[in-house]
Amino acid sequence: MYSANETRYDTMQYRRCGRSGIRLPAISLGLWHNFGGVDDFENSRAMVRRAFELGITHFDLANNYGPPPGSAESNFGEILRLDLKPYRDELIISSKAGYDMWPGPYGNWGSRKYLLASLDQSLKRMGLEYVDIFYSHRPDPETPLEETMSALDQAVRSGRALYAGISNYNPEQTAAAVKILRGLGTPCLIHQPKYSMFERTPERGLLSVLGNEGVGAIAFCPLAQGLLTDRYLKGIPADARAAKPHGFLKQRDIDEGHLAKVRALNELARERGQSLAQMALAWVLRDGRMTSALIGASRVEQIEQNVAALADLAFTDKNLARIDAILTGGV
Ligand SMILES: NC(=O)c1ccc[n+]([C@@H]2O[C@H](COP(=O)([O-])OP(=O)(O)OC[C@H]3O[C@@H](n4cnc5c(N)ncnc54)[C@H](OP(=O)(O)O)[C@@H]3O)[C@@H](O)[C@H]2O)c1
Repeated sequence: MYSANETRYDTMQYRRCGRSGIRLPAISLGLWHNFGGVDDFENSRAMVRRAFELGITHFDLANNYGPPPGSAESNFGEILRLDLKPYRDELIISSKAGYDMWPGPYGNWGSRKYLLASLDQSLKRMGLEYVDIFYSHRPDPETPLEETMSALDQAVRSGRALYAGISNYNPEQTAAAVKILRGLGTPCLIHQPKYSMFERTPERGLLSVLGNEGVGAIAFCPLAQGLLTDRYLKGIPADARAAKPHGFLKQRDIDEGHLAKVRALNELARERGQSLAQMALAWVLRDGRMTSALIGASRVEQIEQNVAALADLAFTDKNLARIDAILTGGV
């Protein structure tokens, strides 16, 4: 019988999620890659356990994570059953619906029909009575926003979810969604945007909407799927995401333009006494509006290294200017 260490809350930092009662760990773990049916279950299990032992209380899933779709939730359900069930009240577990999940007109996007059916399937796969956060995974240009938001509201009111969230919504869509949810009496807890040194779009409007509205933010792909680490400095390792047929990071993404920046950033990280992954996470967390950095991992050691980033989140103005110069190709 698994028993978690008593020291698990000693070092993790927890940040308040917008204007809510929830605090999230500054580093959260996502199960998009390396937790599916194609992956080594014992490795996935070891990562979830180690993460929890390091104070990571938030695990992020979606209906389609795998491959095959659904298998990350099934595996996570098995890990809960084997190890973490006694700790359910210490966990924030999220799931989402929005991308392709099953055939036909009701298996994707943002209808009430899809969102609520998908949530029921997710709960079944994970063996849960409720998720802590249920997200609309992407805005649907054809479904009225009121319908999508009222499905999130219903998910909460029916007890299948405790909080509602949105992901991949632009600033205008976010402001509209937040307003509708507030009107329904189910405030939007959190937005999940893609944010890293290589993807700074949220700085152009989204973060100010979230800050003003009191909505939390959790950055996905803070390491640009592994590009913002030392993983690809000497080619593409056989076990890396970019080498896997089902990996979303493609070999063509590892181009010289990115690598030149990665090398310069790696040098700066070294001067700061950090790994590049650690500096990339500290950079994402430098803004107080960012509640958590949502990492992925393929092994326990990566999680340990990434959590250790929290030991040094400070940047001098000079460091920040140098990072900006590297990212804009000036160095
Ligand atoms: N809402 C959305 O639309 C959306 C979309 C995408 C992702 N997400 C969420 O965000 C989560 C994270 O996405 P992501 O996995 O792309 O995040 P990421 O943290 O940018 O990349 C994770 C990858 O980086 C590498 N890595 C991590 N730590 C490392 C270290 N210390 N040293 C060297 N390499 C390291 C590993 O690559 P290797 O596997 O090659 O070792 C790992 O799989 C997902 O699991 C999911 O929950 C949400």
